[in-house]
Amino acid sequence: MEIIICPDSQRVGVVAGAKVAQLAAAVGPKVVLGVATGSSPLGLYAEVARRVADGRLDLSEARAFALDEYVGLDYSHPESYHAVIDRTVTRPFGLDPARVQVPDGGGDVQTAGQRYEAAIKAAGGVDIQILGVGTDGHVGFNEPGSSLASRTRMMTLTAQTRADNARFFDSVDQVPTHCVTQGLGTILDARHLVLVADGPAKAEAIAAIVEGPVSAFWPGSIVQLHEDATIVVDEAAASRLVLADYYKLVQADLPDWARLDV
Ligand code: GLP
Repeated sequence: MEIIICPDSQRVGVVAGAKVAQLAAAVGPKVVLGVATGSSPLGLYAEVARRVADGRLDLSEARAFALDEYVGLDYSHPESYHAVIDRTVTRPFGLDPARVQVPDGGGDVQTAGQRYEAAIKAAGGVDIQILGVGTDGHVGFNEPGSSLASRTRMMTLTAQTRADNARFFDSVDQVPTHCVTQGLGTILDARHLVLVADGPAKAEAIAAIVEGPVSAFWPGSIVQLHEDATIVVDEAAASRLVLADYYKLVQADLPDWARLDV
């Protein structure tokens, strides 16, 4: 694992965006991105969009697959993940909407998972998977107890996740109860993982997934099973990492060409 600790959340976005841009440039214009919703990756998306706008990064033939979608929320609803991904990724990156897919939470949810897995496979798999993490350690919407081998499927959201996401709705009652999410096994198939987190509310989850045991109880701990995972956090989210000083030492030790300027 590469763990990058930034002084503040603004730098998390810039550094993680630079990391994604570096990986995407190495793959080439046909890169397949895996994209997450939530507030954590917004700074990263802004940095990638800046590089697309000024011509430093070419995503003209890129494809993108979202991690998850609520079940039963109309796609015209501003908080449906179809709408969120369109607003935060598709338009700012200048992607062709026909090349961006989000799990089908509005159709036949029993087959939505298999259909989505087939679409990812047909695209040649995800090259770079961007991840946030929930306060309970979920990635995508894989709640605690998700099999480490799970594939895209329907899941029940925890009360904590619904309470966390109530800020996007008028009340917690309006937050859908179910979702369709890529599985932990699906996420592990991506060639690179870039996970971002900031703020004190994520400190417990970051400590658990980076330094705790690999466990279905903290689904994000799958980052420890991946051979090419980068975790970018601010000081607040890193505050419970026992080895924080060591991770900083490792970054400081990198040769100039390999170091992202935190
Ligand atoms: C949602 C999404 C996750 C996201 C998480 C954290 O539940 N399904 O993909 O990582 O929330 O959100 P935030 O970044 O807003 O804290």
